[in-house]
Amino acid sequence: MKKNLVSINDFSKEEILHILELAEEFEKDPNQRILLGRVVASLFFEPSTRTRLSFESAINRLGGRVIGFSDTANTSVSKGESFHDTIRTISNYSDLIVMRHSVEGAARYASEISPVPVVNAGDGANQHPSQTLLDLYSIRKTQGTLDGIHIMMVGDLKYGRTVHSLLEALSHFKTRFTFVAPKELEMPAEYKQHLDVRKIAYTETDRLDQYINDVDIVYMTRVQRERFLDLMEYEKVKNAYILKNAILAATKDNMRILHPLPRVNEIDTDVDTNPKAYYFNQTENGVYVRMAIISYLLGVKK
Ligand code: CP
Repeated sequence: MKKNLVSINDFSKEEILHILELAEEFEKDPNQRILLGRVVASLFFEPSTRTRLSFESAINRLGGRVIGFSDTANTSVSKGESFHDTIRTISNYSDLIVMRHSVEGAARYASEISPVPVVNAGDGANQHPSQTLLDLYSIRKTQGTLDGIHIMMVGDLKYGRTVHSLLEALSHFKTRFTFVAPKELEMPAEYKQHLDVRKIAYTETDRLDQYINDVDIVYMTRVQRERFLDLMEYEKVKNAYILKNAILAATKDNMRILHPLPRVNEIDTDVDTNPKAYYFNQTENGVYVRMAIISYLLGVKK
């Protein structure tokens, strides 16, 4: 039976740990030709740099082939072809589909149409599970463990699919959460309920400086202009947090700054050379983790 990665909840804790082990193997030896003869469709209905290109890099390094699009303008979607027919057709041309779409639930719907596995590369404000796996990989690599980490999530916690998926995954690992957001962009109630049910502690504040010296990971996010219906609301919160070197002076030695990227202005570029900045290393980890996800879903690595 085919397996999809649409939500991070599609993988058990054991499967998550298995993916991280596989990614470690790929980091040590990234040029394995285990996808020879396989074709992966890369369907980006919404813009992307890291997710699309790291998936495509992962597939190429493993000897597979990529087909797809990064913009629907030159596809028959522009002639009015339905999402259903697009996915049903492309599933005849490929062994696995990686897709991003602005509509929440689009990847789940695709997984119901497609006879080949579907990986959700981001659906609206909902989920971004491959990002979560690379975030977990990055946390474990920098902290030596996933258990008992104190993570501070900062910025757009309302529309940020990366923080939604990451919260759910970290709830397997006795994590402490601090949420830093303006009132308008607070973590939605359903995710706080997820933590309540699991008796996991979280703290909420609108101040970046309040708990920063106590955390192991600062997970910055961009305020996403494209998710706002009213741009006046975006203007009010777009500069809510800007991380600068001064605020990092008394943070823990092991503390690392993660960001799924792209960045707009929420991390000052001076921070890039701070040894605690890890966000560009994080992008490299994405290739190894995506090698692991594809290999696992195609059954070419046990
Ligand atoms: N982190 C992430 O999803 O980046 P892209 O939008 O560039 O893919």
